[in-house]
Amino acid sequence: MTPKALLAAAAATAMLLALPAKAAELTIGFSQIGSESGWRAAETSVSKQEAAKRKVNLKIADAQQKQENQIKAIRSFIAQNVDAIFLAPVVSTGWDAVLKEAKEAKIPVVLLDRDIDPSGKDLYLTAVTSDSVHEGAVAGEWLAKTVGGKACNIVELQGTVGASVATNRKKGFDTAIAKHANLKVVRSQTGDFTRAKGKEVMESFIKAEGGGKSICAVYAHNDDMMVGAIQAMKEAGLKPGKEILTVSIDAVPDIFKAMAAGEANATVELTPNMAGPALDAIAAFKEKGTVPPKWIQTESKLYTAADDPQKIYDSKKGLGY
Ligand code: AHR
Repeated sequence: MTPKALLAAAAATAMLLALPAKAAELTIGFSQIGSESGWRAAETSVSKQEAAKRKVNLKIADAQQKQENQIKAIRSFIAQNVDAIFLAPVVSTGWDAVLKEAKEAKIPVVLLDRDIDPSGKDLYLTAVTSDSVHEGAVAGEWLAKTVGGKACNIVELQGTVGASVATNRKKGFDTAIAKHANLKVVRSQTGDFTRAKGKEVMESFIKAEGGGKSICAVYAHNDDMMVGAIQAMKEAGLKPGKEILTVSIDAVPDIFKAMAAGEANATVELTPNMAGPALDAIAAFKEKGTVPPKWIQTESKLYTAADDPQKIYDSKKGLGY
């Protein structure tokens, strides 16, 4: 090789090394909350599929619902010098210190499906979430429309205390029903987004409300708690979906199964594909320096029994829920 050719080859190699990482070369750490719901299980499996499609090495750490485990996982991802960190924050506060460490290490953080307090806005690159206030509002408006002018006592199953989605879904629902004096939330308690807790809390609501006869509707911050509540109502001899209206959030296959059986009425869909848009945003950021918008919003769609629930169940049941 001539000296000129040698120089050209060396320059080409140097250029290649200087090029930012391609998606296929990325290693991303994902601090996942746990597996509290069918939706969460689907989010984890869809994240793996989306990463595999893009040949990204996605390391998932399951925090088993504990913020301290999430903080440990983030520190370990920083120590491994990953290319980016995805975080589904179990609660909205207490992230500043660890996210500052990620920022100092120049590792971009993307929030998935839940938000953190506004004080932490500078500490992450983007958040891929739905508008959870809107989800609550959609649920409240559907209920107001369905009930009409009739007096309606509602019981509410809240999500995990301190989670952005629980705070926001409550806020959106409360604001929507505040316009209707005939609608009133008579009991509200956390069911921690789980089926078992949803059932247990619903049993206590039924007991406290004279065997459930004074309950007109159940609003649950996710479908899993509603599935548990439906079981509790049936065991108490009540007819969910007929005597007691139900509205919840997620659109998991089991709620469509309940709808098809006439035991549930409405759900607001939350896509489990938060990772796809997040992976694309990180790839563009790493490869071209493209800064994504601060919020990548996913769609929230209302489904009712009029939407052929059996067909939706059949189409969703193999998707990792
Ligand atoms: O953050 C999203 C919520 O978390 C889902 O609605 C719920 O099912 C999950 O546990």
